[in-house]
Amino acid sequence: LGRSFIFEALDEQSRRELAEFAHVKRYSSGDVIFDAGTPGQSMMAIAEGSVRVSVLTPSARDVTLTELQAGDVFGEIALLDGGERSAGVHALTNCTLVVLERRSLLDVLNRNPALSIRLIELLCKRVRRSDERMMEFAFMNLSSRLARLLLRVTVAAPGSEEKPLTKLSLSQSEIASMTGNTRENVNRCLGKWQKSGLVELKSGWLIIRDRAGLEALAEEE
Ligand code: CMP
Repeated sequence: LGRSFIFEALDEQSRRELAEFAHVKRYSSGDVIFDAGTPGQSMMAIAEGSVRVSVLTPSARDVTLTELQAGDVFGEIALLDGGERSAGVHALTNCTLVVLERRSLLDVLNRNPALSIRLIELLCKRVRRSDERMMEFAFMNLSSRLARLLLRVTVAAPGSEEKPLTKLSLSQSEIASMTGNTRENVNRCLGKWQKSGLVELKSGWLIIRDRAGLEALAEEE
């Protein structure tokens, strides 16, 4: 639990107390952890692996909201408001999750304002990101959304010495799901960009050749 931004805020004793009521669950790559619209009383911290959070459109297209990694948590919304799961979560790789039940988490939250603040910060971050995506979906065309996605997922961590990544192994179906579009449209757009030298598609990899060109496209409405 200490690896997670949220639970870092707890002292050792509260963390141990919470861990006593937590249980570990393992999932294989591709497993459904839960579906949107189902009841949920627990929150999960990812100890190992990664998951995809997604919603289904009315025409049953699967749209990725985010991908989460070790140290991230999910399931806080239904746990806190008692409603249904706001999105579905699938394992992208084999995963180990630490599952925290509502009752024990609320007990610890009551005694640890620092933990409540971390949870609020997490929710704020997710609202900001959702607002940004809503703006992209409402006002930007596929090409700008695609450019923004590629820049976002290939950016170096703030303050890190590393150069931004230029090579991605995302499939075109994954990119389509992350930009709320069809694979065919993504394929057409990437093909056009390859011809104009912005990217290169090579043996399953997408290589960014012209970051400045993508940045210019990302600003277009
Ligand atoms: P919950 O609604 O309980 O179950 C689905 C979970 O997905 C939700 O809690 C959040 O943890 C996560 N989630 C839902 N929407 C988003 C989003 N837009 N960005 C990041 N995570 C989300």
